[in-house]
Amino acid sequence: MFCFIPMVASSRFLWVLVDLILCGIVLLNNGGVDGSHKVYMEYQSVVAAVEVKQLHRTGFHFQPKKHWINDPNGPMYYKGIYHFFYQYNPKGAVWGNIVWAHSVSTDMINWKPLDVAIYPSKPFDQYGAWSGSATILPGNKPIILYTGVIDKNYTQVQNYAVPANYSDPFLNEWIKPDNNPLVLPVGVNKTAFRDPTTAWLGQDGHWRILVGGKRKHRGMAHLYRSRDFMKWTKAQHPLHSSAMTGMWECPDFYPVSLDCENGLETSVMTGNIKHVLKVSLDETRYEYYTVGTYFPKKDSYVPDNTSIDDRTGLRYDYGNFYASKTFFDASRNRRILWGWVNESDASNEDVKKGWAGIQTIPRKIWLDPSGKQLVQWPIEELETLRGKKIHICNHQLNLGDHIEIKGITAAQADVEVTFSFPSLDKADSFDPSWVDMDAQQLCSHKGSNVQGGVGPFGLLTLASKHLEEYTPILFRIFKAKNKHVVLMCSDATSSSLEKNKLWYKPSFAGFVDVDLADNKLSLRSLIDHSIVESFGARGKTCITSRVYPTLAVLKNAHLYAFNNGSETIIIESLNAWSMGNPLMN
Ligand code: FRU
Repeated sequence: MFCFIPMVASSRFLWVLVDLILCGIVLLNNGGVDGSHKVYMEYQSVVAAVEVKQLHRTGFHFQPKKHWINDPNGPMYYKGIYHFFYQYNPKGAVWGNIVWAHSVSTDMINWKPLDVAIYPSKPFDQYGAWSGSATILPGNKPIILYTGVIDKNYTQVQNYAVPANYSDPFLNEWIKPDNNPLVLPVGVNKTAFRDPTTAWLGQDGHWRILVGGKRKHRGMAHLYRSRDFMKWTKAQHPLHSSAMTGMWECPDFYPVSLDCENGLETSVMTGNIKHVLKVSLDETRYEYYTVGTYFPKKDSYVPDNTSIDDRTGLRYDYGNFYASKTFFDASRNRRILWGWVNESDASNEDVKKGWAGIQTIPRKIWLDPSGKQLVQWPIEELETLRGKKIHICNHQLNLGDHIEIKGITAAQADVEVTFSFPSLDKADSFDPSWVDMDAQQLCSHKGSNVQGGVGPFGLLTLASKHLEEYTPILFRIFKAKNKHVVLMCSDATSSSLEKNKLWYKPSFAGFVDVDLADNKLSLRSLIDHSIVESFGARGKTCITSRVYPTLAVLKNAHLYAFNNGSETIIIESLNAWSMGNPLMN
């Protein structure tokens, strides 16, 4: 994504104009990623055939049997059960007819579907039950806050739902009491007012929530307070806002520990902590977060000066990942992140295949000891799906080498590798003119085939036997003025031989802020037929790609490690596993 706001523009009007033009270009370029709530009337209720198309269906990622899914909603842990709700179209494979579907699990890997939890049925949600969050109230009482759409113009209100029976750990049935809606769109932009967060309780005994919004082109997190969770009052100022960022969807706000990887319950305000504010920018369809300080008395949040507070800021994931939500898992003292991964193909193809959208593997998320960024890692329960294993160590990769990692199911695998390099002397210089370029542009210039000094090296995932198709996950190391710059790419450009379809094949990329003192870089990739989720430097930079190979499918998919840099790269250790199929809805 490139959406640069020139600092030299002299008038506010010019800023808006330039920004809108550039963002317009971004959205056009953003081929497969639709702007929100794009309505395909003709497809909305085309029920999938009995058998959905299996070719690119994932084996171990969360998805329902058929049809469209988007945002993760209200994840929580209750009485030994993980609950996961999600935006779902029960009638077709494009966005529309949205309800809160509900699945339960004891490990977040094997899932059982339950009945739809919330569906439009009352005046306060008759045009849609949109995204929201769960809060566990004192006495272990879950409550859901969600956005109801009340008219054809998409006017939005905030509603609540409660379990019909708290003694049922599956929370099968949900009630929407008659005192809904709880929050009306007063003093806000009423069609840009949605996605309430998990609430946190201040020491003054008042609950707080955020609701995403915008005023003109300023994105903001509206703040509401309540003593009893029923009567909510809007704070005079939003918790935070940022000019020129457009609508903030799905805000998320939570404390993180500076001392350890443990997660913190959302209301924790004391101790050696920082706060994280994440927003999903509707205009770019990417998510950004800052690490900062929350001042409970003033109810304000100030990002640290190490966190850039605009569209060039930090992202959870530099690929196809949106509308994410975290929750505190009290059973294991960790914070878990869920994110929606949309398709990169066209809607008519989704209708043909009968399904669209998956969720990432849940990730544990915590603050890096530097305090400057977050770190993510797939939950360890995923490892129960690991089957046959291949191990390689101390294997040298010279310029132009690629070796096949044989003996596992390359279309459905988990790969962990540590690369090392004798020295960084051969690293190419980082051209100062690239500073204005984002990582994705740099990756699309350089790709995996342009020879470098140190790198490109990495994995070729979902590759066909003779490399007609492949999705490389790679590193390139550059020498900048007083440091090294590490670029990580997940490049879909050559992922499919298919030429006639309007598939979105971006060169997703991010920089990795990692200390190279030990001359090592690690990579983990979760490969699952049409998705590759990658974690660079043990989760400091994450990139998710959706790809649709034509040759590299099922048994014909291959996995390679490669080096196209002049410096020798050593596979110090590589472990790869075939991955099994969990119970999936
Ligand atoms: C984000 C989003 C939310 C909204 C929901 C509707 O993808 O647009 O803002 O609540 O999806 O399905």
